[in-house]
Amino acid sequence: MKISDSMTAAINDQIKAEFDSAYIYLAMSAYFEDCGLSGMAHWMKKQYKEEVEHAEKFIDYLYERGARVIIPEIAKPKENYSDALDVFKTAYAHEQYVTSRIYKLVDMAVEEKDYATQSMLKWYVDEQLEEEDNTGSIVSKLEFLGKDNHSLYIIDRELSAR
Ligand code: FEO
Repeated sequence: MKISDSMTAAINDQIKAEFDSAYIYLAMSAYFEDCGLSGMAHWMKKQYKEEVEHAEKFIDYLYERGARVIIPEIAKPKENYSDALDVFKTAYAHEQYVTSRIYKLVDMAVEEKDYATQSMLKWYVDEQLEEEDNTGSIVSKLEFLGKDNHSLYIIDRELSAR
């Protein structure tokens, strides 16, 4: 069954959102490098790569359905943050936003009775659960341990193991 034009457009839009996410995390990685927090920079660089994979997975899906992929322009990400907590709070809020986007795609696939897209999106629903949990738990840790250098050092070292 042919994928609809509206679903193709919505997935292309999500491909852009995933590349935008990748850039946001790459910019966060650059911010942490500049602060000397190399563990957090490493964590964000990994996140950047994951987002590129999310975009590629959508691209491959559209290819599989014989639909046209539009390679998007990527938005320039924010460069500066007030501190590590600000960065991870922003990342957490961003993942909640991405989850809401994925849910809208699911709603659309259900409305269109597009079972193949519903099945493909299941992976993203699960992935978003993990992404929110990962970023949210780092926010909690930063809030719990506080902003002093000793706490930052501990969390930075922990995140270097990702
Ligand atoms: Fe691709 Fe972090 O959502």
